[in-house]
Amino acid sequence: MLIAHIADLHVSGDGRPVHDLVDTDAATRAVVAAVAALDPQPDVVLVTGDLTHAGEPGAAERARALLAPLRPPVFVCPGNHDRRGQLRTAFGRRADDADDDWMCYVVEEFPVRLIALDSVVDDPFSAALPPAQIAWLAARLAEAPDRPTAIFLHHPPFDTGISWLDEMRIAVGRDELGALFARHRNVRAVLCGHLHQPMRGTWFGTPVFAGPSVMNRVAFTGRLPDGSPTVEVVAPPGFVLHRVGASDWQSDICFLNGHVEVWAPSLPDPWADS
Ligand SMILES: [Fe+2]
Repeated sequence: MLIAHIADLHVSGDGRPVHDLVDTDAATRAVVAAVAALDPQPDVVLVTGDLTHAGEPGAAERARALLAPLRPPVFVCPGNHDRRGQLRTAFGRRADDADDDWMCYVVEEFPVRLIALDSVVDDPFSAALPPAQIAWLAARLAEAPDRPTAIFLHHPPFDTGISWLDEMRIAVGRDELGALFARHRNVRAVLCGHLHQPMRGTWFGTPVFAGPSVMNRVAFTGRLPDGSPTVEVVAPPGFVLHRVGASDWQSDICFLNGHVEVWAPSLPDPWADS
């Protein structure tokens, strides 16, 4: 089974570049084109949150439209920049996504059972897996204890060592999540986003993969004479291709451009023709 894993599109509501600097529409088109050109095609595409930059009206619909060229089925979970109601409207609300307070569901039709979790809370600088959601997950895992299973959610459960990211860690429920992993060794992997950079780790022995962001990862580096900021692209858009076999799991991090580019607003947008 092939899983294309993309994260952190940060699509705006009107197509304007984020912060007037980062063209997330162009980055999303470029990643979608790269995934669409894969041969063989992935069986499924998982989007691990932050499809929108600020949950503006129309942003989730625009994200769905930008993802529409993908031929495999696309499944999404919310990130801290999203509004789950807008994602449900844009992508459809699944029958088992039954609780208004969190967006969780199970995809049964693939060799690997896929479970969407929702780590988003009202505060965009925090995250949680409340007890009711942990109980829901426990019940789902108990239904199929022998099936290979992958869980996808926005926030990775592990600490990153990056203080400002770890301040936004899952504050409630991550040990309980780990206790479930310890009981259910058929959970083969956890796929996340949020970090805007790839990072691998484990949580209670279960592999966790945080993907790179679709949005160019940038650093503000200074000011031009007119006062506008200069930006360095520290990582181009990327995605992960997970190849899942009966006894192995291989993850390839695919950046669209392997080198660092220095980019200022006065320079041509390198993704404009993508
Ligand atoms: Fe993000």
